[in-house]
Amino acid sequence: MSDGAQASGTLLRVERVSRDFGGLRALDGVDFAVAAGEVLCIIGPNGCGKTTLFNAITGQVRPSGGRVLLDGRELSGLAPDRVARLGVARKFQVPSVFEDLSVAENLGVARFAAPAQAALPATEAVLADIGMADDADRAAGTLSHGRKQWLEIGMLLAQGPRLMLLDEPTAGMTGAETLATVELVRRASRHAGTACVVVEHDMRFVEALDARVLVMLAGRLVADGRFAEVRRLPAVREAYLGRRA
Ligand SMILES: Nc1ncnc2c1ncn2[C@@H]1O[C@H](COP(=O)(O)OP(=O)(O)O)[C@@H](O)[C@H]1O
Ligand SMILES: [Mg+2]
Repeated sequence: MSDGAQASGTLLRVERVSRDFGGLRALDGVDFAVAAGEVLCIIGPNGCGKTTLFNAITGQVRPSGGRVLLDGRELSGLAPDRVARLGVARKFQVPSVFEDLSVAENLGVARFAAPAQAALPATEAVLADIGMADDADRAAGTLSHGRKQWLEIGMLLAQGPRLMLLDEPTAGMTGAETLATVELVRRASRHAGTACVVVEHDMRFVEALDARVLVMLAGRLVADGRFAEVRRLPAVREAYLGRRA
């Protein structure tokens, strides 16, 4: 990794992180950095360690080796709520919004729970970023599955995070919703300056985002580059045989 050139803009540094579950090495010396405001994807087959990597960043899982740094400050060993308060916001695979509250009220709840020192965006700005300005007064329970996912991303943005981690945000979305999610992620990171790491299975998303891609296989990072480059690698073609890679 090009250390010197990017050092000043580095937000997240994952340093040779490993994690064993019994005899299984779920993460094996994973090493990469994310610049402030950068957007990137992590791809790899089921069970290769993507969610465990997120867990190691957010404190849900303690690394067996290596360390995680945010702005040069060590995260490894901190509890998840401490990591969240340092500006790391995470979306899990299953969307969870308050169904009886309106879209705007959901964003309000998220805002209320934001870390004290965060610079919070206006609710209108978040609504614009997630493309839901016209849905502000709708009950969240009446939204489509795709829009609930967008609202949940909005609830992360409402907290003014430095880093957003999205785990398969387009699961269950239509093709059109998936492509709209690409625009949403781009717009949100450009506007809010939030770095965004997306674990994604859907190659339509990864291709349309056209960003840096990290490829994981069996707990290891095997490629790091633009999608157009990594898609040609044998390991990627093998992992996604039968998919559109
Ligand atoms: N808490 C855990 N205890 C035991 N094994 C786990 C645990 N979490 C994940 N694993 C194992 O680690 C490997 C990586 O899982 P995971 O990170 O969920 O993969 P992915 O998100 O890429 O599908 C899998 O073999 C999984 O069964
Ligand atoms: Mg997973």
